[in-house]
Amino acid sequence: MSENATSIGRLSVVGTGIRPGGHLTRETQHVIAAADRVFTVVDGLTLERLREINAGIESLQDSYAVGRQRDDSYAEMVRRILAPLEEGRHVCAAFYGHPGVFVWPAHEAVRQARAAGYRAVMYPGISAEDCLFADLGLDPAVHGCQSFEATDFLLHARRFDPTAALILWQPITLGDLGRKAFEHDPEWVRVLAEVLGETYPAEHPVTIYEAAVFPLDEARIEPVPLNRLHEARFTQASTLYLPPAGAPELSAERLERLGVRASDLVLGAYQQYRRGN
Ligand SMILES: C[S@@+](CC[C@H](N)C(=O)[O-])C[C@H]1O[C@@H](n2cnc3c(N)ncnc32)[C@H](O)[C@@H]1O
Repeated sequence: MSENATSIGRLSVVGTGIRPGGHLTRETQHVIAAADRVFTVVDGLTLERLREINAGIESLQDSYAVGRQRDDSYAEMVRRILAPLEEGRHVCAAFYGHPGVFVWPAHEAVRQARAAGYRAVMYPGISAEDCLFADLGLDPAVHGCQSFEATDFLLHARRFDPTAALILWQPITLGDLGRKAFEHDPEWVRVLAEVLGETYPAEHPVTIYEAAVFPLDEARIEPVPLNRLHEARFTQASTLYLPPAGAPELSAERLERLGVRASDLVLGAYQQYRRGN
């Protein structure tokens, strides 16, 4: 037990960012260095980088197995992360990207730790969406931005706004009903494209986006027309981006309710930019 260990266990959940070389915040490095036990799902170079900060880091990768339901793997990870709290340890759990973005075990570990009376803190990290904003030059203030998990988006009759940007996460899991495989079913992608085609033009560009992970890599920024999306190759790192189609209408009813005439509106820089002024 390190000198930082306390008699009451506590949990810190951190994110390593997308690029281990540059995205590890000082705060995250400090937390990893100070913890008694550090668990992580990251592997490869990111794991090596974390080992330089805390040599005792423990990998949770063996909780995953092909053919095993991902939810079982996640539940096991949460049990492993929480167990040392009972011994009064400061436990750190490190996930890639932002630990609170599309990471069920991170939120669940925090929830269960707090429910059991432990202090639990989640520290933010740089997510794939943050990288997308930078690489694609997308400012969510201009058009608005909606973010959905791809399967969730496809299976629910969502009301979304095509005049705002649309980001669909985890297309690789489309059709993976058993939540056991790590590959998508092109038929599901075809149906997703058809559903999107009810709202967007058939040739609307969909960008397959993969942020660079290593210093010499370049981001994958591959636009494909919506009606050819089923031919696209997805990886674990693919995220889909659809630019807005058209501009939003002002609400005459709301302007009237507020006593404002459209001609009197002083548009902010973002709205002017959107309108091409
Ligand atoms: C389980 S989520 C984890 C997200 C992560 N916590 C974050 O903050 O970005 C996995 C999904 O994140 C997205 N993702 C992960 N790595 C990415 C990368 N290098 N570029 C773009 N998207 C990525 C993909 O949509 C992928 O299916």
